[in-house]
Amino acid sequence: MVGLLLEWYAREARDLPWRRTSDPYSVLVSELMLQQTQVSRVIPAYEAWLERWPTAEALAAARREDVLAAWVGLGYNRRALALWQAAGIVARDGWPEDLRLLPGVGPYTAAAVGSFAFGRQVVAVDVNVARVRERFGAPLEPPGGRAGDFNQAMMELGATVCTARTARCGACPIAGGCASAGQRPVRPARRAHRPRFEDTNRWVRGRIVAALAAGEGLPQGIAPERLEPALDGLVRDGLVRRSGGTYALG
Ligand code: ADE
Repeated sequence: MVGLLLEWYAREARDLPWRRTSDPYSVLVSELMLQQTQVSRVIPAYEAWLERWPTAEALAAARREDVLAAWVGLGYNRRALALWQAAGIVARDGWPEDLRLLPGVGPYTAAAVGSFAFGRQVVAVDVNVARVRERFGAPLEPPGGRAGDFNQAMMELGATVCTARTARCGACPIAGGCASAGQRPVRPARRAHRPRFEDTNRWVRGRIVAALAAGEGLPQGIAPERLEPALDGLVRDGLVRRSGGTYALG
């Protein structure tokens, strides 16, 4: 079964820029960006990031506010600071044996970077992969020395074939061994009301960081009752500094 999965991956996988490298820093950048941001938005950001800061040493030497400004558009700015701090640790001490010692790196990211960049025989389970494994209903293990390809293949299957809302079992290389093949997926409960992005606090935070990064001061046209709580949150998280009545990236 796993052989079929790896053959399918070699044949069908999307050509994503972080799949062409095993450089640990590049892989870490991609995985931190991919934690909460969709692939199509990550691709240009990843390429621009590595052009500007091609190594952990280069990023470690960057100014904190430049790093925050470069993350605008990806959301969840705390990840930018985690990446910057991780680069500082790597530049100073090298890569730790336990990658989870780096800020922003949990069990999933440690396994992804470990297998893609360091050739470790570890399985990376994100939400997509967890769903594929549960539906499949039997153990799926990477062949010796192929954990990186195996993990990429499982992610690819979860992202493109065995998705939460549909399961295209006709296109699945391992449907023949799958306990759920041909079954309609249990639809994830739709949230009753998903606010438009422009109506979220995350959007306001993004606007503030973008405006401060561009040297424009606070963004115009956002009602104070939305602006102020978002600003307070950014100050609390250490992303924005307040001095007197003015604000700057932290
Ligand atoms: N999401 C998280 N890691 C990924 C990867 N390496 N490729 C595609 N999507 C991902």
